[in-house]
Amino acid sequence: MPLSKIAGIGYYVPANVFTNKDLEKYMDTNDEWIQERTGIKERRYADRLGETTTTMGVEAAKIAIERAGITPLDIDFIIFATICPDYYFPGCGVLLQRAMKMKEIGALDVRNQCSGFVYALSVADQFIRSGMYKNILVVGSEKHSFGLDFSTRGRNVSVIFGDGAGAVVLQPAAKEGQGILSTHLHSDGESAEILAMYNPGTHANHWLPEKLADFDDKEIGELFISHAMIDKAQLFPNMDGPAVFKKAVVKFPEVITEALMKNGLTPADLKMLIPHQANLRIAQFVQQKLKLNDDQVYNNIQKFGNTTAASIPIALCEAWEQGKIKEGDLVCLAAFGSGFTWASALIRW
Ligand code: ACO
Repeated sequence: MPLSKIAGIGYYVPANVFTNKDLEKYMDTNDEWIQERTGIKERRYADRLGETTTTMGVEAAKIAIERAGITPLDIDFIIFATICPDYYFPGCGVLLQRAMKMKEIGALDVRNQCSGFVYALSVADQFIRSGMYKNILVVGSEKHSFGLDFSTRGRNVSVIFGDGAGAVVLQPAAKEGQGILSTHLHSDGESAEILAMYNPGTHANHWLPEKLADFDDKEIGELFISHAMIDKAQLFPNMDGPAVFKKAVVKFPEVITEALMKNGLTPADLKMLIPHQANLRIAQFVQQKLKLNDDQVYNNIQKFGNTTAASIPIALCEAWEQGKIKEGDLVCLAAFGSGFTWASALIRW
C-alpha cells in the first residue's frame, strides 16, 4: 500500500501588512510588549470586502494544484480547515468547490482550530492509503481580522492573529518509503472554554464555568445572538493565554516525540520541524526541549502572526520554497490549540 505524499504546495497571504505600531492606534499595546511576549512584528489582514477565508484558500489551492501538475478538475476530494468560515454553514469546502469549478466531489470542513491542518492532512492520508482517492486538496485558511476585538479589552487575543491560507495536494507516493509516515491526533476537552468563541452557539450557558458565564444577564446564553452579547464583547474569542501556554509547552514536545518514536527515529534525524505558529516563545521552548538546532525549526510568526489552520502549510511552503526541505528529508508538522487539540505528522519528503 503506497504512502501519501505532498505533490504540490502553495500559500497566499493578503497584501495588507498590519504592524504592531498600527495596532497601537486601536488599543493600549506596544511593539515591545508584542515582540517580547509573542515574537510577532507584523501580520497580514485580508481586504475587508474583497477577500474571504474561501477566496484566500482558493489562491493557495491554485498554486498547490499547479505545482502538483494537475488541474482543479483532477481533484477528487476537498478538506478545508478553518475557524473563520465564510458562513456559519455551509462550510468553506463547498464554496471552494464552486469557486474553482471542480467536479461534484466530496467536500469536508474540519474545525479543529490550530490543529485543523494536521487533522485534515491525517484524514486525507487515510483516504489516499485506502485507495479511495488519488488527488486530495487540503486547505487551511483564516480571515481572523474580521472577528477580533480591536479595543484594549481584546488586546491579549487580537495582537496574536493574522490572516492567510495554505494548501497542499496529496497523492499516492511513487517511491517506497516516501510520504506521510504517520499522523498522531489528540484531544482533551476538559479545558475547552479556556480558548474558545462561545457565541453564537447553542450552549445556553450549559458548559460555561460560572466565572465565564454572565448569569445575571438572561439574554446571554438563552439566545443564539443578542444585543447583550455585542455590548459585553461576547462575540469575540476568549483566551486564558498563560493556561494555553503551559499546556502547549508540554503537548508539543510530547506529540513530536510520539511521531519520532513510532518510526524508530530521534530529534537528530529531523531536517525540519514546522511547529504551528502560536507564539515564538512556545516554538523556542520546544526547540530547546528537543535539543534541536536553529536550522531544524522553521518560524515565520514574526511576519504573519498566528494564522491558526493556515500557519503550518504557510510555513511548510515557505521553508520548501527557500530550499530548506528537499526530497528524502524528514519533516515533522506539529500543532496545539483550542479544544485542547494537538497533533503531529511525520513526513519523508
Ligand atoms: N499589550 C500590552 N499588554 C497586554 C497585552 C497587549 N496586547 N495583552 C495582555 N497584556 C497585559 C495583561 O493585561 C497583563 O497585565 P497585568 O499584569 O497588568 O494584568 C500582562 O500584559 C501580562 O498578561 P499575560 O496574559 O500574563 O501575558 P503572557 O506573558 O502570558 O502573554 C500571551 C500573553 C502572548 C497571550 C501568551 O500567554 C500566549 O502566547 N499564550 C498562548 C497563546 C496560544 O498559543 N494560543 C493557541 C493558539 S490559538 C488557537 O488555537 C485558536
